[in-house]
Amino acid sequence: MRLFTNNGKRVALTGFMGVGKSSVARHLALFLGCERLDLDAFIEEQEGRKIPEIIDSDGLPTYRAVETRNLERALQVANAQILSLGGGTWTEEKNRSLIRENGLTSIWLESTFQHCWQNIRMSKKERPLARNKPAARKLFDERQRLYALADWHFIIKPEFTSYDIAMQVADQIFS
Ligand code: S3P
Repeated sequence: MRLFTNNGKRVALTGFMGVGKSSVARHLALFLGCERLDLDAFIEEQEGRKIPEIIDSDGLPTYRAVETRNLERALQVANAQILSLGGGTWTEEKNRSLIRENGLTSIWLESTFQHCWQNIRMSKKERPLARNKPAARKLFDERQRLYALADWHFIIKPEFTSYDIAMQVADQIFS
């Protein structure tokens, strides 16, 4: 399926855990007929370990260093036009600089905490930083001002499907 002219822009999707970055990236790549790279999956493949295991055994600062190292690598995968980040990737200044320096357009998929939390609870993905609601809520609140530094914002309503969101993104950014 290819519905949009692909103008060749590279984009990085950011936003809180559970907002749907990976699913939107999957649809976008289908619409544009291009490759996508999911940073969390890439990290697990490169490191040969699961992210929760890295965070739980080595600690968060080590995980953030691993994430940055892999972001640098992922940005060199030239055909990966759509990059879906982990929820914390964009909150690190070094990572934001890398994304900008490599010419990617950053997109914040913004939704309410309640919506993200509902998706987190329904999902099978293990998220060590969202094992309880108050901790996740705190992180959500702290991160809003950083996500807001992205080039584009798309407000995600709970009734939107990832197909709808990808359509909106493609329409605004790739047409
Ligand atoms: C994290 C989000 C996760 C994953 C890791 C840390 C975060 O990705 O990268 O568990 O700091 O918000 P998702 O946003 O895809 O769940």
